[in-house]
Amino acid sequence: MHHDVSEILVSEKDIQAICERLGKQLTIDYRDKNPLLVGLLKGCVPFLSDLARKIDLSVEIAYMSVSSYHGGITSSGDVKIKMDLDFSLTNRNVLIVEDIVDTGKTLDTIVKLFKHRGAKSVKVVTLLDKPEGRVVPFLPDYIGQTIPKAFVVGYGLDYDEIYRNLPYVGILKPEVYTK
Ligand code: IMP
Repeated sequence: MHHDVSEILVSEKDIQAICERLGKQLTIDYRDKNPLLVGLLKGCVPFLSDLARKIDLSVEIAYMSVSSYHGGITSSGDVKIKMDLDFSLTNRNVLIVEDIVDTGKTLDTIVKLFKHRGAKSVKVVTLLDKPEGRVVPFLPDYIGQTIPKAFVVGYGLDYDEIYRNLPYVGILKPEVYTK
């Protein structure tokens, strides 16, 4: 375990089981729907990559980069599009792939935007959900694992751009960000 991590919350084995479970469900729910998976960079990368390979359908994949954190551990709540989609959403069944839902502000904003752009349906699959962090009401359609209100890193999740390559999700020791 990395020396900046105090506890592993979701192990590599847990992540594999989550991807298999969600992939099976999405394969059923999106049959004949030609889904467009939209990954929110950068945190979605390992999850989207593992999950997409468990969806036994023809899918398309697009990426968008949004930011609401600016190097710290609390969301600024101000959602900015850093890189937009290169796909039309008109009449598409869109499945947004996210690493974690905390305040809910990012997804609340993006789901509304995608509906405004003409998507037929917009649903959200998230690896992690921190419901205690909610500031706006938001319920993801598919959840890998619900976790307590702690700052976590690994498997795509960062603190100041570090730790994304850890193969598990763990709690970051508070002394790392209070230094
Ligand atoms: P929300 O708008 O507050 O729901 O924020 C969602 C985004 O905040 C996620 O996509 C992450 O980039 C980031 N985030 C929220 N909680 C954590 C965490 O515990 N660790 C790392 N990033 C987080």
